[in-house]
Amino acid sequence: MIRAPSRFVKRGASKGEQMKRVLITGALGQLGSELATSLRERLGADNVVLSDIRTDVNRDLIESGPFELLDAVDGRGLSDVVRRYDVDTVYHLAALLSATAETRPQEAWNLNMGGLISVLEVARERGLAVFTPSSIGSFGPTTPKDWTSQDTLQRPTSMYGVTKVAGELLCDYYFHKYGVDARGVRYPGLISYKTQPGGGTTDYAVEIFYAAVEHGRYTCFLKGDTYLDMMYMPDAVKAAVDIMDADPEHLRHRNAFNVTAMSFCPEELAGYIRALIPNFDISYKVDPIRQAIADSWPNRMEDYAARVEWGWKPEYDTERMTADMLEKIRERSNVAEHAR
Ligand code: SER
Repeated sequence: MIRAPSRFVKRGASKGEQMKRVLITGALGQLGSELATSLRERLGADNVVLSDIRTDVNRDLIESGPFELLDAVDGRGLSDVVRRYDVDTVYHLAALLSATAETRPQEAWNLNMGGLISVLEVARERGLAVFTPSSIGSFGPTTPKDWTSQDTLQRPTSMYGVTKVAGELLCDYYFHKYGVDARGVRYPGLISYKTQPGGGTTDYAVEIFYAAVEHGRYTCFLKGDTYLDMMYMPDAVKAAVDIMDADPEHLRHRNAFNVTAMSFCPEELAGYIRALIPNFDISYKVDPIRQAIADSWPNRMEDYAARVEWGWKPEYDTERMTADMLEKIRERSNVAEHAR
C-alpha cells in the first residue's frame, strides 16, 4: 500500500468525508460540463468553481454558480482562484485531445504539461487533492493490444500519449515526493450527447449518433474494424467522483487506473444503431492521422485494479448506451425543431 505522509493527506479526500470546495479546469469541455453539473448537484453550486479559457459556450452552466476565466498554465492565477474560494480539490481537465495535439504538438506539450505542473504546484503548496485524467492514449504500438493490463509497456507514439504518460509519472512523483493526494484514471473514448468532444480520435463514436438521427448515414474517419475502448458519460462522471472518494488505505495504485466499459469497432457500433434505425448506413473515408493514432492504442483494456481497489463497475454497455444516446439526441432535436 502507498501512503502519503499524514500531514499532506487531503481533508475531504477519504470515503465518508465530503469534499468541500472543488475547482474544475476545462469545465466547459465534454467531461467537465457534465462533471460540473453532477458535482454542483451533490455539493451545492457555490462549492464547485468552474474555470475555462472561454465563455462563449454553455451559458446556462456558467451562470449556475461561480465561474472564473482562467488558463490553467497560469500558476499565479490558479493559486489566486484556489485561495479566494478556499478550494480543497481540483479536477484538472484542461488539455488538448489526441488529434489536435498531433497537429499542434508544441502547443499540446505546453498546455497538457504546463497546466498539470501548475496545478500540482498549487496542490503542493496548499495541500489540495487533484484528479487528473489519463487515457488509452498513454499506450503505444508495443503495448499488448488485448486485455491490456494496468501495469504494462507504455511507449506512446503520439504527442497526446507522451503528455499522458508524463502526466501519470508526474502525479505519482508529486504523491511520493510531496504527499500530494493526486489520483486519476485512464479513460477510454467518452461518449455523450450534452457537450461534443473536440479533436479526439474516438470522436467518431459521438458524431455517428448525431449523423444517424439527423441524416440516417455517417462517413467514418476510422476503418470499420478498428477496436477501441469506450465509456458512456454517466460512468465517466462516476469514475471521477468515486476515485476521489475512495479510501486511500485501499489504493495500491493511485494514478492512472485503467477503466473501461465497452470495446467495439465502427462496424459493430453501426450494427447496434441499425437495430434501432434499420436503414442506417455507414461508409468510410479514413483520416490517416487519426487512424495511425487509433492503431497504436489497445483494442480493449482490463480494469481489474480499479474494480478491486475502489469498487469500479460501469453501468452502461454498448446496447444500453446506444439506446440512450439515440433517445436523448432525438429529444434534443425535437426541442430544437419546436423552438424554430
Ligand atoms: N478521447 C481521447 C482522444 O481520442 C482519448 O483519450 O483523444
